[in-house]
Amino acid sequence: MVPCLRSTVAELYHTLGLTGFTLTRPNTTVPIGDEVQAAKAADSDMFSLTDIILVIFLIGITVWWWFYRNKKDASLKDKSYAIQPMVMTSTPQVTDNSFIKKLKSSGRSLIVFYGSQTGTGEEFAGRIAKEGIRYQLKGMVADPEEYDMEELTQLKNISNSLAVFCMATYGEGDPTDNAMEFVEWLQNGEADLTGLNYTIFGLGNKTYEHYNEVAIYIDKRLEELGATRVYQLGLGDDDANIEDDFITWKDGLWPTVCEFFNIEASGEEFNMRQYRVTEHDKDALPDRIYSGEIARIFSYKNQKPPYDMKNPFLTPVRVNRELHKGGGRSCMHIEFDLEGSKLRYDSGDHAAVYPENRVELVNRIGELLEVDLDTVFTLTNTDEDSSKRHPFPCPTSYRTALTYYVDISGKPRTHVLKELAEYASDPQEAAQLKMMASTSPEGKKLYNQWIVEDNRSIVHVLEDMKSVKPKIDHLCELLPRLQCRYYSISSSGKLFPNRVHITAVRVEYDTPTNRHVHGVATSWLAEKIPKGDGSEDPVVPLFIRKSQFKLPTKTQTPIIMIGPGTGLAPFRGFIQERDMARKEGKPVGETILYFGCRRKSEDFIYEEELNEFVKNGSLKMYAAFSRDQPEKIYVTHLLSKNADEIWNVIGLNNGHFYICGDARSMAKDVQAILLKVIQEKGNMSEKEAQTFFKKMESQKRYSADVWS
Ligand SMILES: Cc1cc2nc3c(=O)[nH]c(=O)nc-3n(C[C@H](O)[C@H](O)[C@H](O)COP(=O)(O)OP(=O)(O)OC[C@H]3O[C@@H](n4cnc5c(N)ncnc54)[C@H](O)[C@@H]3O)c2cc1C
Ligand SMILES: NC(=O)c1ccc[n+]([C@@H]2O[C@H](COP(=O)([O-])OP(=O)(O)OC[C@H]3O[C@@H](n4cnc5c(N)ncnc54)[C@H](OP(=O)(O)O)[C@@H]3O)[C@@H](O)[C@H]2O)c1
Ligand SMILES: Cc1cc2nc3c(=O)[nH]c(=O)nc-3n(C[C@H](O)[C@H](O)[C@H](O)COP(=O)(O)O)c2cc1C
Repeated sequence: MVPCLRSTVAELYHTLGLTGFTLTRPNTTVPIGDEVQAAKAADSDMFSLTDIILVIFLIGITVWWWFYRNKKDASLKDKSYAIQPMVMTSTPQVTDNSFIKKLKSSGRSLIVFYGSQTGTGEEFAGRIAKEGIRYQLKGMVADPEEYDMEELTQLKNISNSLAVFCMATYGEGDPTDNAMEFVEWLQNGEADLTGLNYTIFGLGNKTYEHYNEVAIYIDKRLEELGATRVYQLGLGDDDANIEDDFITWKDGLWPTVCEFFNIEASGEEFNMRQYRVTEHDKDALPDRIYSGEIARIFSYKNQKPPYDMKNPFLTPVRVNRELHKGGGRSCMHIEFDLEGSKLRYDSGDHAAVYPENRVELVNRIGELLEVDLDTVFTLTNTDEDSSKRHPFPCPTSYRTALTYYVDISGKPRTHVLKELAEYASDPQEAAQLKMMASTSPEGKKLYNQWIVEDNRSIVHVLEDMKSVKPKIDHLCELLPRLQCRYYSISSSGKLFPNRVHITAVRVEYDTPTNRHVHGVATSWLAEKIPKGDGSEDPVVPLFIRKSQFKLPTKTQTPIIMIGPGTGLAPFRGFIQERDMARKEGKPVGETILYFGCRRKSEDFIYEEELNEFVKNGSLKMYAAFSRDQPEKIYVTHLLSKNADEIWNVIGLNNGHFYICGDARSMAKDVQAILLKVIQEKGNMSEKEAQTFFKKMESQKRYSADVWS
């Protein structure tokens, strides 16, 4: 019976909570709630054509809604994986999303939120929260994605309350994944934040166009919504010395906060240890010991899709060959096999791998600290309210922790040096460590010279300060988490659905203290060479990260790509894809590449392939060989000479413009040239050219995939 059918479907909608939806029939638009009544009241019991169409439409919508809801849930789950690189334990996360409740129940008034992708922001947040106790502000660290951020409106109800934000910027001025919803809430909402006391430290890098934009925006927006800025915005530049920026900012933070709340520093030294160690008896080892898994125990033995950041796929390395023909450097072309993983990618996406620290460095720490690295231990958070029970998967052995979980190659931060000083039996070494950890001008100078310029890792510090013997578990607690490394995928998912290609230049250099340093991931990848003798190929834990760096949807759209060195990587995939489209008889717009390397005979990567694309008409290429003549020739020099062609693509034919590779100088130089071309060839003022450029950016006609 139609009325019954109609009413049943409408009631189903009502049950699903879709009461805001409207059902539209010719000449009538009835809100669903009313529709139930209308349907009940109807007295016709005949199926009309309209009714049948209506029922089909409703079933369609219901099915769509059902899938959408599931998909949305799934994507939220995925997102939470991508957000919390530092909280990758197997421990369940908090279920209570009220930070106000937590603050009240634990007698805290300081909350430090972080927006972080690779852990620095989270680490800074932890340091601030710990220090608060010295100033009678007991603190907690909070991931904005785990909590109901609307509760910021209620923070004023806790006396002497302060919200600190440590927020990193990525991409085109975007928040980190875990801060996305919070920033959207700030952008779209009009919450009254009067009475909220806050301060912000931004994490960014000056080589990027949108320097620290997220922190700058949040700072401005909180003030607009009525909150009180207790202390000035701090901006950290990761291209220079972000640790220095942070400690300098923090130095002024506490006196200002004390004055604001009229409180005093307690002066008490407090126990800085966040985790308590349990070493497991060799004869009574736990059944389940982590051996390098990112989250789920035994996930490398028992692989189960879906694969993502928290559950990487152990991909076999099928090809690993050298691309350079000379010059002393190495650039690897690596092919990973995706067969059976259900992983899919588009050209322009990134492949991420979880590397291992070098065996000799791990062993060196064991020797220097005179410990048995095979001891199994667990670090447990002493703060029971924290959502992070362990700093990394535990129980595990010290060897595994030093190999897979902590960063032993980076430059140790000042708070680590401060803690190391406590273990120095030589007073001079203790004094030097304390000095480097201080914010005095001499201390900063020494840190900058001894750690930053001399490129000392924790291993080098322990080697050069023989009396410093920290407890190994404390060291594991202090060191930051080893991060995955991203690579621009250099193949097309359309041509190679089961293979991911990457193009990685090997990092290797000598330090001023005469040490030869190997990049963690690239030196580890260099050893992953398939033997081709029938033995099993080496495997690498990998996941795919989607990017916004995409080809235009229409193949006719012309494109210009600027990719010197490894910057060529994503463009190889782009070119493969457009070449395939052309061969399939599709209309393909101009595909123009600017490639640059040092010497044609040494590091012209993929030379034969590129020449073949040029020969068959799929590609127009300009190549700059910077060191083949007395004066440098860069892609930028070639670009400057081709203003008419550039304008023809971007100005007259709505084409796309892409840059990939070095963020430090190349990307900026290219952008400056582009602006000049827009101004000159488009007959625009500087301001109009800027507006034109911004519009290209917002239309995704200008995209940069740059790193430094
Ligand atoms: C989105 C994205 C895409 C990327 N795509 C690619 C790509 O396609 N191909 C590619 O090769 N890389 C790419 N990278 C870089 C890559 O992720 C790694 O950073 C790189 O491979 C180095 O990793 P590593 O572990 O070997 O070196 P690490 O151990 O991390 O060492 C690198 C660090 O060593 C220091 N260093 C390097 N050279 C010197 C030197 N001469 N003197 C002093 N210090 C030095 C620097 O601090 C540098 O950050 C990309 C990065 C990002 C963020
Ligand atoms: N984080 C990492 O460890 C890591 C790893 C890989 C790459 N990178 C970054 O990515 C960049 C590219 O590395 P790569 O090894 O692939 O390339 P590369 O071989 O160092 O450089 C490619 C070409 O670009 C030239 N170039 C230098 N400055 C330029 C500029 N301002 N504009 C245009 N061209 C310029 C180089 O010339 P000259 O050298 O002759 O000046 C060379 O001919 C590096 O500079 C580095 O910043 C970083
Ligand atoms: C791929 C990439 C993109 C970045 N984009 C920006 C940017 O647009 N603006 C900026 O100021 N910093 C940018 N940065 C720098 C980071 O914000 C900075 O390194 C920060 O310290 C990272 O903090 P986290 O470790 O907490 O994630 C970028 C870094 C990377 C690797």
